[in-house]
Amino acid sequence: MSNSGTSPPERASLRLFFAVELPADVQHALGRLRPSSAASAADYRWVNPDLLHVTLAFLGQQPRETLPRLSALATAAAAASQPGRLRLGDPGSFGPPRAPRVLWVGLAGDLEPLLALQSRLADALRTTGFALEDRPFQPHITLARRREGTASGRPPPWPPASGVPGLNVPLRHLTLFQSRLSQSGPAYIALERFPLASD
Ligand code: 2AM
Repeated sequence: MSNSGTSPPERASLRLFFAVELPADVQHALGRLRPSSAASAADYRWVNPDLLHVTLAFLGQQPRETLPRLSALATAAAAASQPGRLRLGDPGSFGPPRAPRVLWVGLAGDLEPLLALQSRLADALRTTGFALEDRPFQPHITLARRREGTASGRPPPWPPASGVPGLNVPLRHLTLFQSRLSQSGPAYIALERFPLASD
């Protein structure tokens, strides 16, 4: 079918996830943790700082018709959750220590409201029939992923010698993102923001 209008055709299904957004200064400070050596760039794909976030639930590809249901359950989960003030925490990694799969920075500060929000959201999603991964939630910001085919890859200098700056991350709303994949990397589009309970 041809698309005669000027706007792109609407997709029948969307790749979706819920996340906590990071302020731009925090994203850019995290971007500076990327080592400058070419060796570390060879084995790891570093996330564009503008895309850094804290994933709360990854939904994968979903029919567009699920959006109203997602909006309703996220509105309720956010409204029942307390806001807070998070801070950047310690650096860490997933996978074998000699060749980690994922390099990340954790969170500190008001973790209880963050954990409560994630658990309320995940419960609501599961009850509504969305399949989520079973792993316990470990709040983190993914900075880099090891490239495929570099299983014995040499890890970049990690944790970073400079340490992680103790910057604040306000926890005020939950965001539903669409992820659009392309050859040049993903683009994240904030579809809706859900405010947490006001005090
Ligand atoms: P993570 O990097 O914090 O682990 C958007 O793709 C986000 O969804 C990613 O940042 C990733 O969070 C999370 N995610 C979880 N499972 C995923 C999967 N199978 N494929 C892609 N992203 C996934």
